[in-house]
Amino acid sequence: MENELHERQPTLVLIKPDGLSKSLTGNILTRLSETKLEIAAAKCVRVSRELAEEHYRDLREKPFFEEIIGYLMGKFHDRKKVLAFVYVGVDAIGKVRDICGATNPEEAASTTIRGAYGRITTKGVYENVIHASSNEQEAEREIKLWFKPDEVIYNIYPVKTVEEKVKHPIWA
Ligand code: PPS
Repeated sequence: MENELHERQPTLVLIKPDGLSKSLTGNILTRLSETKLEIAAAKCVRVSRELAEEHYRDLREKPFFEEIIGYLMGKFHDRKKVLAFVYVGVDAIGKVRDICGATNPEEAASTTIRGAYGRITTKGVYENVIHASSNEQEAEREIKLWFKPDEVIYNIYPVKTVEEKVKHPIWA
């Protein structure tokens, strides 16, 4: 069981609004495909303040907190959305982070996604085109925040079934 989980280590990847605005989706996905990992979930998300604040909840005390919330919500770009993915595979977290490069785009090697496409704004905020989970605990927290169990094609975490009567739109 442990082995199976290890083989399918999941990680969250977000292509941020600057990546979309600069039409980098194809390039980024091509770079990520070099890892030979598998995409287990994918969607386009309009990010609410609530979602952004929860995603970056550990950075609440940082001076750049408001900026990164606005950045993820797309306030500084013409694309007010992000693309969210779950990648799975052996050492997925490490492999994705290697190809992303350092968080600070100035420190990221030019052969990495952030090194090639990221920048630091005049306010000192990193616009580094991509987010990738930093460890297993964060990956689990982030994936559960961005995806529902039935949006991921594998049972990567335990689920329970609840009965709910909610109104939701269907195609007319
Ligand atoms: S820490 O405590 O700053 O080291 O936090 P870390 O876990 O590395 O995540 C930092 C996220 O905030 C974004 N960000 C910045 N970090 C540090 N300094 C500056 N100036 C800054 N501006 C933005 C950084 O990109 C990380 O977000 P993600 O989405 O993971 O890239």
